[in-house]
Amino acid sequence: MTFPALLTEAEIKCAVDRIADEIKRDLGDQPILLVGILKGSLYFLADLSRCLGENVAIDFMQVSSYGNDRRSSGVVKILKDVDISLENRNVILVEDIIDTGITLSHLLQVLRTRNPKSLRIASLLSKTEARTANVEIDYLGFEIPNKFVVGYGLDDAERFRNLPYIAILPTGESV
Ligand code: IMP
Ligand code: MG
Repeated sequence: MTFPALLTEAEIKCAVDRIADEIKRDLGDQPILLVGILKGSLYFLADLSRCLGENVAIDFMQVSSYGNDRRSSGVVKILKDVDISLENRNVILVEDIIDTGITLSHLLQVLRTRNPKSLRIASLLSKTEARTANVEIDYLGFEIPNKFVVGYGLDDAERFRNLPYIAILPTGESV
């Protein structure tokens, strides 16, 4: 299935390179812990981590707020926690998209209690129009319209994550 691309592979690659440069500018040679929020951040984290230097550790968390629904339920549950301690580390939370911001603001509250040296947010996409919780994104790929998108990690009920580009899900394409 081919959908018209909202963001092409080349545009995504360019944004990932830029974000890596911004991170290197801010953190220099300091060790970094990238914490990917599963599953949507999968490709972004994989590509971003390979643009950063040697001193990069990777871990994952999984939270649930949507189920198979396209709207945030507003309830955030930690399904999988990190294995690596955040204490005194430069942590960058890696997200696919910040929509309402509910998931992220909840996670930030939890992670701040674990005494990281610094805690930053990298998100490939943001839908500012949809925001209900106030969150500051340190590294952002693209601001996008308030439409449901799929590809490059983002799914519709687990479909379309593996599209190499990002597309607005055409109406009627849902399972
Ligand atoms: P928030 O709590 O509303 O900010 O929800 C963030 C999470 O919802 C993201 O990490 C995605 O997993 C999911 N999400 C939000 N918007 C979309 C979308 O347009 N397509 C696919 N998943 C989305
Ligand atoms: Mg997500």
